[in-house]
Amino acid sequence: MAEPFDDIFKESKIFANKEILSPHYIPHNLLFRDRQIQEIAKYITPSLRGERGRNLFIYGKTGTGKTSCMKNVIDRVRNLPISKARITYINCRIYNSRYRVLHKIVGDNMPLYAKRGYGMSDIYEKVINWIEEDGKVLVIVLDEIDVVKDLDDLIYTLTRANSDIKAGGITIVGISNKVSFKDDLDPRSLSTLYENELAFSPYDSNELSLILKERIEEGFRKGVVDQSAINLSAAIAAKDSGDARLALKILTKAGEVAEERGLEVVTGVEVQEAAKSAEDEIAYEVINTLPEHQRLIVYAISLLSISGSKYKRLSTEGEMYLFSGDIYDKYVSISRSLEKEPKSSRWYRKYIADLNMQGIILSYESGKGIRGHTKLIKLAYSPERIRDIIEKTLTKGA
Ligand SMILES: Nc1ncnc2c1ncn2[C@@H]1O[C@H](COP(=O)(O)OP(=O)(O)OP(=O)(O)O)[C@@H](O)[C@H]1O
Ligand SMILES: [Mg+2]
Repeated sequence: MAEPFDDIFKESKIFANKEILSPHYIPHNLLFRDRQIQEIAKYITPSLRGERGRNLFIYGKTGTGKTSCMKNVIDRVRNLPISKARITYINCRIYNSRYRVLHKIVGDNMPLYAKRGYGMSDIYEKVINWIEEDGKVLVIVLDEIDVVKDLDDLIYTLTRANSDIKAGGITIVGISNKVSFKDDLDPRSLSTLYENELAFSPYDSNELSLILKERIEEGFRKGVVDQSAINLSAAIAAKDSGDARLALKILTKAGEVAEERGLEVVTGVEVQEAAKSAEDEIAYEVINTLPEHQRLIVYAISLLSISGSKYKRLSTEGEMYLFSGDIYDKYVSISRSLEKEPKSSRWYRKYIADLNMQGIILSYESGKGIRGHTKLIKLAYSPERIRDIIEKTLTKGA
């Protein structure tokens, strides 16, 4: 019998350093993002001198490099010899309330206080005093800001802090891949947060190819990845959403397929296979983090795509799209059958915009047709696969 752990120290013929290919790895060189990095730096520059800069809101679809660029700028600031700025990066998926955000700020900067169970007002005072000590500027980066439950309260508190602080101040950088979340914000929070905006556009397939190439140099062994594998991974990801995370995931999986089969080169064939499972995995992650009603809408789209709606129609490229109104009706009937109150059509339109921004659906406005102007919608993933994923969560009672 072969020893079961024989393989652990065996060198991979395909990968040189898999860590470099992981979605958590932040490359030093972010291609095609010089302008965005410069812009972010520009808004943070005053804080280095101890002046409160203007707040910034960064948005763009998933996998367009928002988090990577921000972290790149944070590293640069931390390496500066003199600076009045203190940057705290907060992943709001984890720190999703005003209290947790403020607690994280204290934890990162004043570790002595962090362990004790202070109330809100104590924490607030700690932060203010710490800033005033020497006129610092605290730059708070709120990544995935849309998931903060009491965001209006958080922004109000930070704004109030700025007027309470006598020396120094607070600058906010918000990051999100949701467009419509701003409709739910109080107009005052909105004007605070949106003092400046910075958009990240999806990558096209040439850009993705070059991003992949650079990562391959360090992540894969020399000469192992065929050009066809690069081009196809980039093309699939570009068509889907322009998402660099997806492109990398597909290529890495293709490498794993080649490795399992004892191949020496990764080609388009392995990519083709890997693409399906990479997309499934991403779909699974994405669907499972959706709020309930968005999930039901996606469920309605998957069912209609499978059973067919009578008004389903062909786009110019020959792909099937559904009418937005049909999807809404289906969503309402699914909600009722699950004894959940369906959201209004106004909410529905917001959810559709969010799903589009997240790359879960593709949509476009129809020209004048049988039903006047309407939105045409299609799932970005396999409808059967999506239906199965959601049905699992529904039976769990989620
Ligand atoms: N310009 C780039 N050059 C090299 N790698 C990139 C670039 N942009 C993105 N990536 C890679 O793509 C992945 C996703 O990037 P990132 O996490 O920054 O996206 P994001 O815009 O924050 O997405 P989300 O909205 O889902 O949070 C990371 O692994 C990152 O290394
Ligand atoms: Mg991000």
